[in-house]
Amino acid sequence: MPVITFANTKGGAGKTTAVLLLATELAQKGYRVTILDADPQHWITRWHEVSGHVTNISVIDFVTSASLPLHIAENKHNTDYFIIDLPGARNPLLATAIGLSDHVLIPIQGCAMDARGGAQVLELLQYLDEKAGIRIGHSVVLTRVNSMVTTRALCLVKSLLSERQVPVLDTAIIERSAFRDIFDCGGTLHSLDPARVSNLEKARENARCFAEEIMGKLPVKLAEPTHSTGPLIRSAA
Ligand SMILES: Nc1ncnc2c1ncn2[C@@H]1O[C@H](COP(=O)(O)OP(=O)(O)OP(=O)(O)O)[C@@H](O)[C@H]1O
Ligand SMILES: [Mg+2]
Repeated sequence: MPVITFANTKGGAGKTTAVLLLATELAQKGYRVTILDADPQHWITRWHEVSGHVTNISVIDFVTSASLPLHIAENKHNTDYFIIDLPGARNPLLATAIGLSDHVLIPIQGCAMDARGGAQVLELLQYLDEKAGIRIGHSVVLTRVNSMVTTRALCLVKSLLSERQVPVLDTAIIERSAFRDIFDCGGTLHSLDPARVSNLEKARENARCFAEEIMGKLPVKLAEPTHSTGPLIRSAA
């Protein structure tokens, strides 16, 4: 049961949105997902309350540095993927979550401030590797990317990341109103009404590619499908 943390010390980088997209796509594919909501704004918990029951998704609220390892230990037998939503700040929870993670995803919009917040997470990952020999897989995910134009700021961020040889996901999360609407309406991209939400099909396709890229990095075998009618044993790759 891989633990995936979304981290960027800069607020508003798109962590919570990316957490929800990944969690709902994994759940749609039949994986049991536990979201650990450590964001002081509790957006995921609020989404869960608005949504009611969502198949395969559990949310744990008020996660602290002290409680995080316990939540993981207590739920590891009923969870396929843990996803941690961190606050946009540098605090002790950041190091605890990163230390418990199998993969850290660093959402970065095409702007210098986000890149700086992402760099702080990368520095912490480097520190753990050099000082403690703990090497944790990580990738940047570009977020809120304009579907029509590539901005100069985004080009700059991309070239900085490539200079520093930071792994970047092939799938960027596009700026889509559907990704905001699921927080207001509850449910998932699959329960939104295509007649009311613009470009919903494109949003679904984007979220699917994002989740599949992460599943390829952290495959989990699904023993008993709880949702889909797919094969009994499915490799996530
Ligand atoms: N791909 C996207 N398309 C459209 N809107 C987005 C997208 N990603 C994020 N947003 C919007 O940007 C704002 C910030 O996003 P989000 O809350 O996901 O960031 P965050 O990193 O979790 O912020 P914080 O650090 O405050 O927890 C929200 O209003 C959200 O709806
Ligand atoms: Mg957040």
